[in-house]
Amino acid sequence: MKKWIWIFAVVSAIVRNVYTQGVSDFFEGNGMMSIGVYYYPEAWPENQWARDIRNIRRLGFEFVHMGEFAWAFMEPEEGRYVLGWLEKNVRLAAEQGLKVILCTPSPAPPVWLVRGHPEVLMVDNLGRSMQHGTRTQACWTVPRYRDHVARIIAELGRKFGTNPAVWGWQIDNEISHYGKNCCYCDFCQNRFREWLKQKYGTIGKLNTDWGCAFWSQMYQGFDQIRIPNQAELVAQMNPHALLDFNRWFAEEAADYIRFQATELRKYCRNQWVTTNFMSLHEQVYPALSGKDLDAMTWTVYPVHGNLNEGPLGFRLGNGTELAFMHDFMRPMNGFEGIMELQPGQVNWGDINPQPYPGAVRMWILQAFASGADLVCTYRYRQPLFGAELYHRCIVETDGVTPSTGGKEYSQAANDMLLLRKHRQPNAAMPKKLVARRTAFLYHFDNRWDMANHLQTTRWNTMGHLLKYYKALKSLGCPVDVIGEERDFSAYPFLVAPAYQLLDSALVARWTRYAEKGGHLILSCRTGQKDRRGQLWEGSWAGPILKLIGARIPFYDLLPEAVNGKVQSDARTHAWGAWAESLDPESGTAILARYADQFYMGNAAAVTRKLGKGSVTYVGVETLDGEMERDLVRGVFERAGVAVENFESQFLVDWRDGFWVATNFTEKTLNAPIPPGSTVLLGSRELGPAGVAVWKE
Ligand code: GAL
Ligand code: ZN
Repeated sequence: MKKWIWIFAVVSAIVRNVYTQGVSDFFEGNGMMSIGVYYYPEAWPENQWARDIRNIRRLGFEFVHMGEFAWAFMEPEEGRYVLGWLEKNVRLAAEQGLKVILCTPSPAPPVWLVRGHPEVLMVDNLGRSMQHGTRTQACWTVPRYRDHVARIIAELGRKFGTNPAVWGWQIDNEISHYGKNCCYCDFCQNRFREWLKQKYGTIGKLNTDWGCAFWSQMYQGFDQIRIPNQAELVAQMNPHALLDFNRWFAEEAADYIRFQATELRKYCRNQWVTTNFMSLHEQVYPALSGKDLDAMTWTVYPVHGNLNEGPLGFRLGNGTELAFMHDFMRPMNGFEGIMELQPGQVNWGDINPQPYPGAVRMWILQAFASGADLVCTYRYRQPLFGAELYHRCIVETDGVTPSTGGKEYSQAANDMLLLRKHRQPNAAMPKKLVARRTAFLYHFDNRWDMANHLQTTRWNTMGHLLKYYKALKSLGCPVDVIGEERDFSAYPFLVAPAYQLLDSALVARWTRYAEKGGHLILSCRTGQKDRRGQLWEGSWAGPILKLIGARIPFYDLLPEAVNGKVQSDARTHAWGAWAESLDPESGTAILARYADQFYMGNAAAVTRKLGKGSVTYVGVETLDGEMERDLVRGVFERAGVAVENFESQFLVDWRDGFWVATNFTEKTLNAPIPPGSTVLLGSRELGPAGVAVWKE
């Protein structure tokens, strides 16, 4: 018996070792970052495939992505698999030296599947089955759907799982039901109930944690519970039920990803597995899949009629959001990249402007700067039919002439060739950056709970978080966006904005962190509730008061038409969304005070020393985030750590020995290139969408 256990342990250690080593090799051989493109051969005449793939290579792409919506072509009738067309395209790609990412086609089930088995269709909040005719109409909870997915995966796996031209796999596409949000089918209702039963054990415990004494909501058994759905409820929904539903939905999506990854790995050798999450998406939580996937990838369309910051923000995109997503995805398992990055105008915004000339290349180089392992663009050929007419692509409608975005991709591919020549593998992060390393604590529970209980329509959780993140970028800090499972002590600075749900164990960790020399920054709404989303019986935000050295007697929210004033360091700032009046203890220093309203003069932000470190609490959110930036800067200065003073949306990053500046502003700005540096790309002076890369 013992012997078997021993053999099992050794074998699994070897397998694990080979496996994890394999993962880093996939991306190591990649020359830091590889650039690719989506191609849909099933939508184009066979006699154009070879030409298209040759042209993809000529433009400088290194991999091609195929197959995510092609189920009807892969399995035109139940059980009849037709993969020759895909094999041919994989071969054509390999002949051109292109690596291939293949996909599981699950977001677009064929019509025979949903007509034959209508129970696989998702059900919307009004109880209607969603129909064939677009995509993501199936429910991934339904066992029959999963069976069919497993079968097509097996078929693909057998055909391609050992094909050396296939580099990796993408599971599904942007797992979600888009605007329909979530599914309310009977299978989902039951899975949710089972999940609750697992979590609570007894219905009494659920009644307590959901606060069911309120409005006589008391349940007698788990079978009486339905997914909270405003469309079938008269008054406000139970926020604790909603929070649990958000958690269940995210876990169920992660379970589906895990299921597909497990099926793929039965057949695939030396191929990595990812899925493409949507940037800043609120319902599907990528961190739940960090261990199930080899690389974390995501999709982003920086320009789609959104204004962003500054007069050119609508053409340049939001550098802060892009950088945040890289910093969020990278720490999960060490490998990340953008799976879909816009090559030009899109077709699905309310208004679809042209990106600024150079912006596409800048996004790619900013991804490089953030440590991305790959960037892929959506898509090679401009569709001549279908729902994405007008979506600009790498080539024009003739199928061969490179578009503006196509040319920028080529340029970026050349940039990468040049940078690879100057690569210093294992270059150590410069000391000044090490001193500024910051962890940004982020948990979707907080996002969900605040969304379920906004209190003011002026509150925007991601907007709040990004004000702090942007402040850190303007100081030139390397940031890792992490979850609570991580060790904070590796970072001299820790920022946890609007961390609404917590427990005493987390507060104890924060306290120890500061005592040992860490500098902790918290902001308004932190610690107001326990993990169930209930308020504390005791002082407002009770568990954090000792830590921050202040009480929070009340908070104020203002109507849209009214702004309040807050003063810090003789500068006055406007606020509108959230303001807590703070009552500091002795030993706590005041950093900002309200400059109007009936509580004028009360503290709005405080700081105190704790052990070898410090704790700073900012109780107000300003409109433009400038006060937050100054206060964050103050924390670094008091800690004796030198920081930069970059303009907002002017990003300067370091990667593998390269310094990279990207200009997301409308101004011409100077890259901070020290004398004696070697400038590899661009120049010191950077106009809008300008990029400079140098080595010091
Ligand atoms: C993405 C989606 C792609 C394509 C693209 C168009 O969100 O994943 O399949 O629809 O948008 O911009
Ligand atoms: Zn469902």
